[in-house]
Amino acid sequence: MSTEEPALRITNVSKRYGRTLALDGVSFDVPRNQIFALLGPNGAGKTTLMHILCTILAPDSGTAEIAGFDVVREPLEARSRLGIVFQEPSLDDRLTVRENLNIHGLVFGVPQPLRRQRIAEMLELVELTDWADKPARTLSSGMKRRVEIARALIHDSEIMLLDEPTAGLDAQSRQRMWEYVRRLQTERQLTVLVTTHYIEEVESCDRVCIIDSGKVLAIDTPDALRHRQGEQLLTFSPRTEADRIEILKRFPDRLVHENGNEIALNADDEFIETFLDQFGNRVRALSTKVPSLETAFLSLTGRELRDREADARERTLAFGKRGGEHTR
Ligand SMILES: Nc1ncnc2c1ncn2[C@@H]1O[C@H](COP(=O)(O)OP(=O)(O)OP(=O)(O)O)[C@@H](O)[C@H]1O
Ligand SMILES: [Mg+2]
Repeated sequence: MSTEEPALRITNVSKRYGRTLALDGVSFDVPRNQIFALLGPNGAGKTTLMHILCTILAPDSGTAEIAGFDVVREPLEARSRLGIVFQEPSLDDRLTVRENLNIHGLVFGVPQPLRRQRIAEMLELVELTDWADKPARTLSSGMKRRVEIARALIHDSEIMLLDEPTAGLDAQSRQRMWEYVRRLQTERQLTVLVTTHYIEEVESCDRVCIIDSGKVLAIDTPDALRHRQGEQLLTFSPRTEADRIEILKRFPDRLVHENGNEIALNADDEFIETFLDQFGNRVRALSTKVPSLETAFLSLTGRELRDREADARERTLAFGKRGGEHTR
């Protein structure tokens, strides 16, 4: 890869399934050696984009390049640079952990003894050496996810695509998963494109792309996203409909979001004083907050990522037992 090339370049990609426009002119670059998060609610188009990048699915229009290779014209070159962890679990449960990794190495043409050495190294990285010869079905969901990360690294991948690696996992497994992701970046100089529903997980990523209904709404560092909303957020509920209308009319440029009866305005100390003088007795539940990624997401998409717990439960039902780590 030349030094100028981004790890991933996505240019105006659209994809339709029947009536659903899953991706609508998506463009962004992922610079090398960054952890880049795709954050969006169910159906935002995250997996569709991942599938286009890993050459499973062709875009209707637009282009995507992996390390300079076009996913449609040069799929083999593009694919060989990628390590992938799919949203849906994909280990063969009947095989042992080592056999799962070995097959992957064979498919990607990694010769012995390099294959054996990589398998040992990667199992060490994800702390599963003791489990190498156990059937995959005996591992917890968190451990299976870790094997999938190890598997993605058996060949010479430069770029990791992780589609919701932490969905449905308990807090401790999620934290561990992120430790490995950071180690991939710092110790192996990998680029990581990761999707998630959990907003707190993107806090430590280098850049975040907020996507909803197939459209990119914002791409920035977590800090810059937070600060787009100004210094403070003043939130309150107007006492009457007339108060609500008047406030919205008076401060259209300060409106960050309206969520049910709650209004949030971007504010500084001086504005808060003026607002209290004029509207203090016409609003309830008044409070100030420091802008967060949650509020940034809300102001961009008009809704919260509130459905995420329900999602986790749905996944639990859909994919069988997805619980905590086994203790060793
Ligand atoms: N094979 C398919 N056939 C028809 N529609 C599809 C198909 N795959 C995805 N879609 C639709 O395309 C849109 C984007 O789906 P996608 O799976 O990419 O979203 P996502 O952001 O990954 O969602 P989630 O967070 O639930 O994984 C959704 O409206 C979905 O219903
Ligand atoms: Mg998905």
